Amino acid sequence: MRLQVVSDLHLETEVFQPQPAPGAELLVLAGDIDSTWAGLELFRGWPVPVVFVAGNHEFDGREMTEAWPALRERCQELGFTLLERERTVVSGADGRRIRFVGTTRWCDFNLFGDAQSERVLRAAGYFMRVQRSTLDGLPFDAAAVRIEALACRRWLADELATSGDWDATVAITHFGPSFLSADPRYGSQPGTASFCNADDDLLPLAQLWIHGHLHCRHDYRVRHDAGETRVVCNARGHGRKGEADGYDGLFAVDV
Ligand SMILES: [Fe+2]
Ligand SMILES: [Fe+2]
Repeated sequence: MRLQVVSDLHLETEVFQPQPAPGAELLVLAGDIDSTWAGLELFRGWPVPVVFVAGNHEFDGREMTEAWPALRERCQELGFTLLERERTVVSGADGRRIRFVGTTRWCDFNLFGDAQSERVLRAAGYFMRVQRSTLDGLPFDAAAVRIEALACRRWLADELATSGDWDATVAITHFGPSFLSADPRYGSQPGTASFCNADDDLLPLAQLWIHGHLHCRHDYRVRHDAGETRVVCNARGHGRKGEADGYDGLFAVDV
């Protein structure tokens, strides 16, 4: 099954006109499409099914407990499949059944282990203040994000370990699943734990892992006993920072 992969369009400030990729059977939107949600409209009536995993910026300035049901309703109205700690199984033209498991995942700040946790959480505070979301009326700060992230991780680990009537598994998370997905511009600094999780142990349970959040592109393979997992990020990012230079909005992968 050919999947078109797009994320981090940031249409709240960026201008981008998405086009369907030739031959793609499904479009994966891996989050940070538009913090105002208005840009989601560009994908209404898309010629193939749209699977959407929300990014952190879909919650900018919002109350989480209200935003989730509202976003779900919006996606339903647009005909998208929103995946948050959910699975959907789709059959390709070749008859193969593909399981998609999706969650925003957030970040649990465990990327560098306990020794670095203080520095990591200090760096995380910056990102959370920028986002200005609340959960039950309280700041959705690093501690709250961590709780949410660990719940997502537990769901993801359980779901990926489940076997069933499908031929391949695609994991979709907005946040990166490995330090291997770190943005080479920033590398191994405390802030990177706000972008990637140490989910390397889960990689072997999917044939393909799609993520966003890092404003750079990735397409790499991790080898393991079960074969190999391809990790893909096709984030566009911010044009003013040069992140969108050479962006291929038609990028597609086969699974
Ligand atoms: Fe982003
Ligand atoms: Fe993001």
